[in-house]
Amino acid sequence: MINDLLQRPLKDLRISVTDRCNFRCVYCMPKEIFGPDYPFLPKEELLNFQEIAKLAQIFAALGVTKIRLTGGEPLLRTDLPLLLDKLTSIQGIKDIALTTNGVLLPKYAADLKAAGLRRVSVSLDSLSDERFGYINGRGIGVEPVLKGIEAAARAGLKVKINMVVQKGVNDQDIVPMAKYFKDAGHTIRFIEYMDVGNTNGWNLDKVVTKQEIIDRIDRHVMPLEAVRGQYFGEVASRYRYKGTEQEVGIISAVSDAFCGTCTRARISASGSLYTCLFATEGTDLRELLRYGLSDDVLAGRIASVWNNRDNQYSAKRGRDTNEASGKQKIEMSYIGG
Ligand code: GTP
Ligand code: 5AD
Ligand code: SF4
Ligand code: SF4
Repeated sequence: MINDLLQRPLKDLRISVTDRCNFRCVYCMPKEIFGPDYPFLPKEELLNFQEIAKLAQIFAALGVTKIRLTGGEPLLRTDLPLLLDKLTSIQGIKDIALTTNGVLLPKYAADLKAAGLRRVSVSLDSLSDERFGYINGRGIGVEPVLKGIEAAARAGLKVKINMVVQKGVNDQDIVPMAKYFKDAGHTIRFIEYMDVGNTNGWNLDKVVTKQEIIDRIDRHVMPLEAVRGQYFGEVASRYRYKGTEQEVGIISAVSDAFCGTCTRARISASGSLYTCLFATEGTDLRELLRYGLSDDVLAGRIASVWNNRDNQYSAKRGRDTNEASGKQKIEMSYIGG
């Protein structure tokens, strides 16, 4: 196990497998910027599955036990189940998950389950076709995502729902979403809107805080109680409806940051290592891999990056997005959230 400068161990690896997406969410890939001419990565610049598996193995040897595949939209990467086959056989990896917008789950859920995937997080920000269509930037209705959620559950995958809450855009959906997924028996996590990337026009006035979300659910759905026994480094604060086992999560990356226990490393679609979601610079692992360095040398390089890590962006962010450095942050669709 290796620690960073703040004594945080490296435990989780989030791997972005593509920078492309079939949605154009206003807060992530606004269509005005990610238009038809946007220079997405050419295929040869993406890590191939062998390279991803090799890195995953090295990270596992350094102490990683949990892998999450992200994007862009990870299911746009052809043959993703083949990658899962490789990842599930790595010693030390106890948990593999996938974060997706859900629309391709009817096509792939059964194959993913068969390849060893256990659980998925599906993003859905509203149950109103109008609001959801606006947010996803493509006018896509709610139905294809709900079908994806159903397909995943039917295939035996554990499903969590992620809702990014933006004040004045979809905060009226907190209560209907909570009720719907309480009845459906899936955990929903409400995510405070964050200033990721450089294009989403974030400011604190657009954030609905964890406390406000809890108050609304308490009042209009059913009272919540905190669930104890979270593991070190868990992103969501967990609650359950009093007297039931049905959980709700809140991801309070703004009002109550969790940098102090952040055990996550990220690899972008092109193979750069980032030690924070809000990083401005990464370490090019693809180049090192393709140069033919031994696993030991690669492991040493990764360990030294982690040993020198001191990121705590969310804990230090103020009212405005922290641009004091003047540097561009990495886009969410590239680093995978
Ligand atoms: P679980 O393993 O199911 O708890 O998943 P997760 O919450 O770690 O992953 P998911 O991809 O579902 O992410 C949910 C939300 O948390 C997204 O909005 C992510 O961007 C955000 N998130 C995940 N990790 C971090 C982090 O290290 N820092 C910040 N600020 N946000 C994070
Ligand atoms: N703030 C909070 N969450 C975000 N996501 C994307 N952009 C943001 C943002 N600005 C979420 C997606 C997905 C997860 C990977 O990150 O909705 O659920
Ligand atoms: Fe695609 Fe997810 Fe970004 Fe939306 S938030 S554009 S679904 S990667
Ligand atoms: Fe970790 Fe950076 Fe998120 Fe803080 S802001 S929890 S250091 S990824």
